[in-house]
Amino acid sequence: MNQDYIKPDNWSIIEEGFDVESVKSSESIFSIGNGAMGQRANFEENYTGETFQGSYIAGIYYPDKTRVGWWKNGYPKYFAKVLNAPNWIGIDIEINGENLDLNACAKVKNFRRELNMKEGWYNRSFEATLQNGTEIKVNIRRFLCMDLDEVGVINYEITPLNKEAKIIYKPYIDAGVTNEDANWEEKFWEPLETKDHENEAFVTAQTFKTHFKVTTFMQNSILENGKKLNLSPEIVSATKEKVQFIYSVSIAKGEKSSIQKIGGYTVSLNHENTLSGAEKVIKEALAKGYDLLLAEQIETWSKIWEMSDITIDGDVKAQQGIRFNIFQLNQTYSGKDSRLNIGPKGFTGEKYGGSTYWDTEAYCIPFYMATKDQQVARNLLTYRYNQLDKAIENAEKNLGFKNGAALYPMVTMNGEECHNEWEITHEEIHRNGAIAFAIFNYHRFTGDYSYIPEKGLEVLIGIARFWHQRANFSKDKNQYVILGVTGPNEYENNVNNNFYTNYIAKWCIDYAYEQIQKVSLEYPSDHKRIIEKVKLSDVELQDWKKVSTNMYFAKSEELGIYLQQDEFLDKDLVLVKDLDKSQRPINQKWSWDRILRSPYIKQADVLQCFYFFEEHFSKEELQRNFEFYEAFTVHESSLSPCVHSIQAAKLDKMDMAYAFYLRTSRLDLDDYNKEVGEGCHITSMAGTWMSIVEGFGGMRVKDDTLHFSPKIPKEWTGYSFKINFRNQILKVSVNHKETQFHLEGTKNLTVFVNGKEVNVAPNSLITV
Ligand code: BGC
Repeated sequence: MNQDYIKPDNWSIIEEGFDVESVKSSESIFSIGNGAMGQRANFEENYTGETFQGSYIAGIYYPDKTRVGWWKNGYPKYFAKVLNAPNWIGIDIEINGENLDLNACAKVKNFRRELNMKEGWYNRSFEATLQNGTEIKVNIRRFLCMDLDEVGVINYEITPLNKEAKIIYKPYIDAGVTNEDANWEEKFWEPLETKDHENEAFVTAQTFKTHFKVTTFMQNSILENGKKLNLSPEIVSATKEKVQFIYSVSIAKGEKSSIQKIGGYTVSLNHENTLSGAEKVIKEALAKGYDLLLAEQIETWSKIWEMSDITIDGDVKAQQGIRFNIFQLNQTYSGKDSRLNIGPKGFTGEKYGGSTYWDTEAYCIPFYMATKDQQVARNLLTYRYNQLDKAIENAEKNLGFKNGAALYPMVTMNGEECHNEWEITHEEIHRNGAIAFAIFNYHRFTGDYSYIPEKGLEVLIGIARFWHQRANFSKDKNQYVILGVTGPNEYENNVNNNFYTNYIAKWCIDYAYEQIQKVSLEYPSDHKRIIEKVKLSDVELQDWKKVSTNMYFAKSEELGIYLQQDEFLDKDLVLVKDLDKSQRPINQKWSWDRILRSPYIKQADVLQCFYFFEEHFSKEELQRNFEFYEAFTVHESSLSPCVHSIQAAKLDKMDMAYAFYLRTSRLDLDDYNKEVGEGCHITSMAGTWMSIVEGFGGMRVKDDTLHFSPKIPKEWTGYSFKINFRNQILKVSVNHKETQFHLEGTKNLTVFVNGKEVNVAPNSLITV
């Protein structure tokens, strides 16, 4: 049974009733972020029940010394961890002498959380009876400003219900935090100094080793029935890592008392002096005040939705699912800063260590490309360009490659590898392919070729060199093979000739080769600059081509399918449908060796190749491969169902496409993989977007033109999405009878609908 406590709603995520068992899940699901920072939905007041405390700052990491049982050469010595950052949300509360703790109250009722995705705020309310008999009503609203992105705001309001209450608010900031995910139980933060001044306090700390300096700040105001009181903290307690204030008030029964806390971080990535930076930021936030900050937040989110909303009519759960995904993606990455990227858990948990996986290129870029300014996707590409030297160093020093071959890390924060399982770090090399594919995809969608001569070509050359050297000639097969890899399906390791890997390797070489020719003709001075820099000769180019034209692909002629790897058909091919349900998810039930020997596929692999290179294969080939591999796929990676959903839609298997859509869009809300407490699956959320736009909408870009083949699940009465295609916004609305296009722009746009040409004029509605 999946989790089923989130109330269906078009615009909000809602939980009603207090259940200690779901605190950790809700802490993930109700997380908030603004691209620069984010945090789990931890309670502000002390909570003695089970909780996973997490607050994160984009780009701030700690290199934790690698810990493995059996060291293998080539492992990185350390790997960067997403860091639990100092706490600025904490407000301990004492009421009539008793600490407020939802785990220790005599009674808690009307507990409700709401994450309002339309307006970008999180609200928690409840009524509690304390052990001392005081009954209170509490309402807390919190948001992280999208515009003033170093600032978060909390309004914590208490109403005593049965008697007068003496309330002591004890807001604090605390750098004495630890990570759940730490190899040696070490502290990651070194406190440097604290400062307090009237209602403001600052704790400056730096990360050990990486020396990122962070000033965590707070400013507090106390209000009675909405009016600010002129109250200074009575007692200030400060250690080197924590400052806590104490404000005492008495409030009559039925009246409202509240504390407004402004808090957040200034970091050395953006400020020379983080302390004076924080003082300035507080002034700016105070000048605006709570109401204006909230109004700005609502306005900014309305602009985001204006561009990226997807509507679904007739199916609230599906609607809620897609909006949750779009909301989280926007909370995780704003695209303002090319030093940042999209971690698989975003700001909702620590799992997965570093921040950047192939997820970004394979799954996230299409979403950001189509719902933001094209600079955002370009920033994501630039991130890899800026890390090219490290990828070359990684291939050379750690793995013995030469001549500028680049292997991008499996996981990274700063270009260095952050992962250390040999079967993944050393073998899951297909990631290099997705990075090249993203460059192709960016050009295909945006039409902006300038990125390739400016930056992309160097990346393509480094990657092509890697594949050229990584393949070896098999005399037996008289072809090039790629041995000892892990494909996207991590439930097989050290396999030979993984179809996806071989295919993308060949494609990368061919694509790099073609772009070198094109740049040489169209951008001769860039060509000269690059070729001199990377010292590329015609002889080397011809050698590359020998590998790509002679790459080996394992097939079964009898079944008419490509083989995921040489020996796939030797396995005991029991279908997933014949596997006892009690055995799933297999990664929580089976030993690793049993998983490896089994035919079960964690995520799309051969089918991932069909997804990227759809036009290289016929529909019949897709059908045969889909039917074969889908039957063995357990989708235990969040990245899997979206690809299957897109392909099922293409093959007119609409029930299946819909089931996969629900699975991908509500993966966290309904906790399909039984692990949401560790954090949400942010990167796969972009896959959810793809499953509507590319799956049901059938959107493709061919020869600079948009194509659609709209389909609609029978459960829906209609749906719509918007895309930014080359600086014009096209809205596509689909129902069971027709498809409508509306263009916000200035130029006519030609699109194809089921192969038929349609002209869309600006600002008019075209019905097909
Ligand atoms: C998947 C990888 C993915 C990683 C991060 C793993 O479970 O198998 O493909 O890159 O998670 O999302």
